[in-house]
Amino acid sequence: MNTITLKSPFDMHIHFRDGDMMKVVAPLSSANFAGGIIMPNLVPPVDTKEAVIAYKSRVMDAIGDDDFIPFMTLFFKPYTKEFLSDVRDKISAVKLYPAGITTNSEGGVESIDTVALAPTLNAMSELNLPLCVHGETNGFVMDRESEFMSVYEELAIAFPKLTIIMEHITTKDAVNLVQQYDNLYATITLQHLLITLDDVAGGMLAPHLFCKPIAKRPEDREALVNIAVSGNEKIMFGSDSAPHPKHAKENCGCAAGVFTSPIALQALTQLFEANNSLDNLQKFISDNACKIYNMQPRSKNITLIKKDFKVPEYYEGFGEKIVPMYFGDTLSWSIKS
Ligand code: DOR
Ligand code: ZN
Repeated sequence: MNTITLKSPFDMHIHFRDGDMMKVVAPLSSANFAGGIIMPNLVPPVDTKEAVIAYKSRVMDAIGDDDFIPFMTLFFKPYTKEFLSDVRDKISAVKLYPAGITTNSEGGVESIDTVALAPTLNAMSELNLPLCVHGETNGFVMDRESEFMSVYEELAIAFPKLTIIMEHITTKDAVNLVQQYDNLYATITLQHLLITLDDVAGGMLAPHLFCKPIAKRPEDREALVNIAVSGNEKIMFGSDSAPHPKHAKENCGCAAGVFTSPIALQALTQLFEANNSLDNLQKFISDNACKIYNMQPRSKNITLIKKDFKVPEYYEGFGEKIVPMYFGDTLSWSIKS
């Protein structure tokens, strides 16, 4: 096959940031995708109706005339049902961060106690409002996600009608768990399908591949690839594209986040092709997300052609450089303009 057309590709987990950074990165998503879930971990976090409305309007400005729907989210806090009902039509999900687990998550949840969180989570269930979760403990870095599996189980059992999205899963433990409960679903990033910890830290340290959760073992990556290319209905693409300025990555305190939005479709096509699974890419990139989030596909199609794509060394704006994953490398698929 030399071309493939993806109908309504969605990126179900993106960090657009704000201000000048957003003006550079948002168009790189809105050019290639029909929509995406926009994460709320700004400073301060997006946690009021006014903040959601104002952020969405800044997002719309940043994407200009592109045909792209930003699905807004709220930063999880204990909220009343009245508040959630009032904001329901402005948001697609609520994102829960354990406090301090990653970039701008200091205001997250100190302890995930199903009793204490019940009023908010029951209200979300009643409003069919999905809960997106950054599932890591603050334990040893390689074990953080696996240690979180018991929390996901408690949530899944305590709130059987709540749609729970295990964000950016990285382990075979998570691949196993998502298949065990009807109300668990997951996103998988590009980098976790392509790299292991060896690529991050096995040779020269690769700051542009450093993210939270950190990439894991080969057997974890294999489990992620297998479930993604199978087209499994519980699994959707969420890039977790998380841009930081070059100096914040190439620094002795490297910021966590891999910037993938401009290369995601090309690299995913290459990966699915290598796994003889191009027929399932449509499910991973859109169809499954539409079912999980109860959304209609958009009419936007993106065609890829088998032609080399040289990944730029960096994208630039506001006096900063932002380095994408695989900068300077060549991918075998390009987006047809
Ligand atoms: O690596 C990450 N970067 N993981 C996250 O969960 C957040 C993200 C960011 O916002 O930079
Ligand atoms: Zn994220």
